[in-house]
Amino acid sequence: MHSVSANGANIPALGFGTFRMPEEDVLRILPEALKVGFRHVDTAQIYKNEAAVGEVLHASGIRRADIFLTTKVWVDRVGHEAFLASVDESLAKLKTDYVDLLLLHWPQSEMPLADRIGALNELRWAGKVRNIGVSNFSTALMAEAVQLSDAPIVTNQVEYHPYLDQRKVIGEAAKTGMSITAYYLMADGKVPQDPVLREIGARHGKTAAQVALRWAVQQKDVIALSKTATESRLAENFDIFDFALGEGEMAEIHRLARPDGRIVNPGHLAPEWD
Ligand SMILES: NC(=O)c1ccc[n+]([C@@H]2O[C@H](COP(=O)([O-])OP(=O)(O)OC[C@H]3O[C@@H](n4cnc5c(N)ncnc54)[C@H](OP(=O)(O)O)[C@@H]3O)[C@@H](O)[C@H]2O)c1
Repeated sequence: MHSVSANGANIPALGFGTFRMPEEDVLRILPEALKVGFRHVDTAQIYKNEAAVGEVLHASGIRRADIFLTTKVWVDRVGHEAFLASVDESLAKLKTDYVDLLLLHWPQSEMPLADRIGALNELRWAGKVRNIGVSNFSTALMAEAVQLSDAPIVTNQVEYHPYLDQRKVIGEAAKTGMSITAYYLMADGKVPQDPVLREIGARHGKTAAQVALRWAVQQKDVIALSKTATESRLAENFDIFDFALGEGEMAEIHRLARPDGRIVNPGHLAPEWD
């Protein structure tokens, strides 16, 4: 697997996501994901599973330096001290003294963006966080975050799948050397059923899910997250580095994008999207 280099961060192109994964599922499936080869793990304070992630990583015997671990600060961590304390709490649960990447989970918060970016920078200087980034940011907010931050912003983690055109966000990221981390690549179950993706997959001996994951990681500076609590799908989702999609196939997949393709849009958290 290749890594994506973004403003000093080297991020494995495929990560294991843990959203909607209760701790008992993390304890069961994450050890298997590590056996399959996943080394990039994505969690968040709001997933309420950081302790299980920490337990599995700690027990795995894999060197800490060989894991790329991301967590995200939830929007209700308001005020400098509360924000910093929440990250200390995450580190304690994760059984580590640093995360590789710390993200602001959503742009909306009662704590001003400048103060949240300031706190991210402080944590980075303190060595508790190797890299900092954002999630669910529009292009305008990406530019604002970059402008407010001393340290580089290394990624914007956003919804991205074949039904959602994210060219503007990817273009904005490219301006400042940022990467894009794609979530929801299965588009709530639509991707594995998609006839176009299935047909492309059949040409390569791959499934529609593998085609979508491959399509993401084959784009410059795009990292893909994949979540499954189903053991049999782990190897499927990991085996995307032994084939390549042709230019025509990439374009065919991009053409699946629809104006109403966005799925994740919580009104109280979301920005005005591009
Ligand atoms: N920053 C944010 O706001 C944000 C938002 C959403 C997600 N994320 C991150 O991105 C990760 C990925 O997003 P996601 O959790 O929505 O997952 P996803 O990768 O789009 O997968 C979602 C669903 O697809 C199913 N699936 C997975 N692989 C499959 C396959 N090969 N064939 C058929 N179905 C398959 C899984 O079901 P089973 O588990 O039952 O197998 C899962 O419920 C999250 O876990 C999280 O880490 C971040």
